[in-house]
Amino acid sequence: MSSEARSRNLTMHLCITFAVLGGAAIVSAGSAHAASTNGWYTQEQAQRGQQDFNNYCAECHRPDLTGAAGPALAGDAFLRQWGNKPLGDLFSFEHSNMPATSPGSLPDDTMWTITAFILQKNGFAAGSTALNQQTGANRTLVK
Ligand code: HEC
Repeated sequence: MSSEARSRNLTMHLCITFAVLGGAAIVSAGSAHAASTNGWYTQEQAQRGQQDFNNYCAECHRPDLTGAAGPALAGDAFLRQWGNKPLGDLFSFEHSNMPATSPGSLPDDTMWTITAFILQKNGFAAGSTALNQQTGANRTLVK
């Protein structure tokens, strides 16, 4: 093989390598995107949300969300009320009205974390992205 041919061969090899790596990057970026649009919150976040819910909400809504002094936060009635609307509507309601004894007292991130737990209890899927204003507020609440 002439040295010219060898260097052309090397160039081609590098091109293929970059094409393959580039393709892999696109594929993995694509799957990360799919995961974040299918899932609503992370498993770990919902777990923390359950603790916060027990501290701040469960006395009126029960630990299993079936309701007591306040309405049930899981099931058909809840989804009729909040489904097919931007999730930001539910968040705004919670943030300005709950906990009923001291409305607005919880920081945003705590309320998003609690909302992750509520979504989990309503059968919405976990994913790879945490729920917050950026990832959740504009999403329409449909499974
Ligand atoms: C002291 C009792 C009490 C506590 C504590 C409380 N809630 Fe409520 N909650 C209520 C009552 C009463 C209502 C119904 C009144 C209304 O809809 O304005 C309600 C309504 C709601 C609703 C609307 C339900 C629906 O179907 O329309 C949501 C969502 C909610 N609460 C979330 C929370 C969250 C999250 C917390 C904890 C951060 C919390 N609540 C803590 C009493 C409480």
